[in-house]
Amino acid sequence: MPSVSSGVSLPIEERARILDALNNEQVRGCTKCRLHVQRKNTVFGEGALDASLMFIGEGPGETEDETGRPFVGRAGQLLTKMIAAMGLRRDQVYIANVVKCRPPGNRTPAPDEVGTCTPYLVQQILTIRPKVIVTLGLPATQYILSSTRPMRELRGNWHEWHGIKVMPTYHPSYVLRSYTPQVRGAVWSDLQKVMHELGLTSSAQQFSR
Ligand code: URA
Repeated sequence: MPSVSSGVSLPIEERARILDALNNEQVRGCTKCRLHVQRKNTVFGEGALDASLMFIGEGPGETEDETGRPFVGRAGQLLTKMIAAMGLRRDQVYIANVVKCRPPGNRTPAPDEVGTCTPYLVQQILTIRPKVIVTLGLPATQYILSSTRPMRELRGNWHEWHGIKVMPTYHPSYVLRSYTPQVRGAVWSDLQKVMHELGLTSSAQQFSR
């Protein structure tokens, strides 16, 4: 793992150089795990290189595999609305995933796939050094927190990853599947804690599908 202090005050051009090199020289052609066999495109991540807020999802779905961009399918549309409800645009945050290739049939990435792929994510986090990370769903949350506890125990509470505050919340795909006031309210409450931490205000009442 790279030094946890790297990226602290890197100029934006240096961040771009590091992440472009990581993507072009390592991620794009990666064959380190079985997920490369069926992928159409790797999905590196995208967003502001000086973002104070980073979202981490599980792994690319079908639309992401087709386009090479994170969170652009149905779950991505909801994530974009969640970001807007926080008073932000997508290009003001950074969005990445635990694994960079689509698991066949959108299955959960296997532990060895997560272990092989996450050095790329760690380098992304250390280069951008956001103030807050929001982990979306169980695989991202359990990986970042090195925990095996369930989402209901982890979400809604502040945690820490190498000095960066971490707020776990439900994955947008889960919100779409369980579109209840309780689940949406829980996510909105988690996002409001993040807004408070970052000094953000928004007139939105919540987000909708
Ligand atoms: N789900 C994820 O976890 N990540 C994506 O990029 C898309 C859907």
